[in-house]
Amino acid sequence: MRIAMIGTGYVGLVSGVCFSDFGHSVTCVDLNADKIARLSAGEVPIYEPGLDELMARNMAARRLDFSTNLADAVAQADAVFIAVGTPTRRGDGHADLSYVEAAAREIATALTDYTVVVTKSTVPVGTNARVARILSETAPEADFDVASNPEFLREGAAIEDFMRPDRVVVGVENDRARDVMQAIYRPLSLRDAPVMFTDLASAEMIKYAANAFLATKITFINEIASLCERVGADVKQVSKGMGLDGRIGPKFLHAGPGYGGSCFPKDTRALARIGQEHAVPQRIVETVIDVNEAIKRRMVDKIFDMLDGRIAGKRVAVLGVTFKPDTDDMREAPSLTIVPALVGAGAEVRVTDPQGRHEGERLLPGVTWHEDPYDAVQEADAVVLLTEWNQFRALDLTRLRKAMRGTAIADLRNIYRSEDLTAAGFKAIAIGRGL
Ligand code: NAD
Ligand code: UGA
Repeated sequence: MRIAMIGTGYVGLVSGVCFSDFGHSVTCVDLNADKIARLSAGEVPIYEPGLDELMARNMAARRLDFSTNLADAVAQADAVFIAVGTPTRRGDGHADLSYVEAAAREIATALTDYTVVVTKSTVPVGTNARVARILSETAPEADFDVASNPEFLREGAAIEDFMRPDRVVVGVENDRARDVMQAIYRPLSLRDAPVMFTDLASAEMIKYAANAFLATKITFINEIASLCERVGADVKQVSKGMGLDGRIGPKFLHAGPGYGGSCFPKDTRALARIGQEHAVPQRIVETVIDVNEAIKRRMVDKIFDMLDGRIAGKRVAVLGVTFKPDTDDMREAPSLTIVPALVGAGAEVRVTDPQGRHEGERLLPGVTWHEDPYDAVQEADAVVLLTEWNQFRALDLTRLRKAMRGTAIADLRNIYRSEDLTAAGFKAIAIGRGL
């Protein structure tokens, strides 16, 4: 199969590279000429473990290339994937579909033979139908079908998730499109990954419902964690005990500083807006959005309390600012709420993050950057552990504490055992457990 991938962000790039690894011939297209130049030179513009190696292998095999020329890539393709951004629209919380629509218009003018135009971006119900309308209005003669193929990969584990998915969801309207999509995903079907075919609207809905459910699960345990702190329970034990129930499952029950990232926040907001628009308010999702905001602010209160409310002039070291480990993505990271609050209250904030500096320098003014945790904590009054990078999981706690002038640590990812923190001389707080 010949594939054109429109958009080389986290999803488009990973999907394009993985499709080429299946043996398909893939051209990844982006508007951003600088990005395409870097990709063509073999440079991966994002941090995603394993991606550089897979990309190099498939470029060398001449199955993968990069271009700004959408028309050429589309003209030759059996399937064109739209993987452009669908960020929150300013003002009303809806998904901004302008990039998807612009891509559809451009694709329409370049279609030649029969082509399946597949939306991989996360889009509200009805968007694929809208893409079909744009295509037929712009190019009335074009021979095409549309398909909805939402993506479920996680940043930081994107290749593994793409190559070994729990399921692939494909919404189609007829067998012709289904056959093309089946051929594209055959390597995964052969590995027994379920490829589930649905109608267009159900495929679109599955994506929002899945993300909102996961965001709800996290928010549920975060709220339980706050209660654990009050009643003297340990949320780690609580989530373990809950997760052993096969109906609940252990995943996404790690209490933390609130979910962030490029998707849960924007997709929950979009789903809430869709519900309001159809007069079926999604009250659980609306509450999850509010509670998650409150949880991020609660983290600020916890840190202030830890320092007895006296923040001004205190030196605070923050370990980790990306929204999760193994990514350089800072979109809607809890650090964007917590760090400015500390800076605003007059703290001297020293930050370290294995991959977050590039974006972080732009998004977190007024902090200083440090190469490693031991450097960041020099003469600090307090440490805030905000993202659970592996590099922060096995710190020499005694060395860390000795480098500081204070003894306060906020372990907002519950990485360390309370006895180890106490033994190293820390006065510690964590999430959902008294220490
Ligand atoms: P991104 O913002 O990282 O990348 C989007 C890319 O599309 C950019 O490089 C941009 O230059 C390019 N682009 C925009 N319009 C274009 C056009 N007309 N022609 C060519 N290129 C164009 O976005 P992302 O994080 O990869 O997300 C893309 C979509 O996938 C979103 O709908 C998102 O919700 C969904 N999604 C993302 C993830 C994730 O982990 N990031 C996971 C699943 C689904
Ligand atoms: C999430 C989904 O997991 C993917 O399936 C989906 O494809 C993607 O959104 C998307 O639609 O873009 P991602 O945002 O990359 O993936 O990262 P997650 O691992 O889901 O983490 C999201 C946030 O939840 C992070 O801030 C993380 O720290 C937090 N989280 C996650 C918790 O606080 N506790 C948990 O138990 C799990």
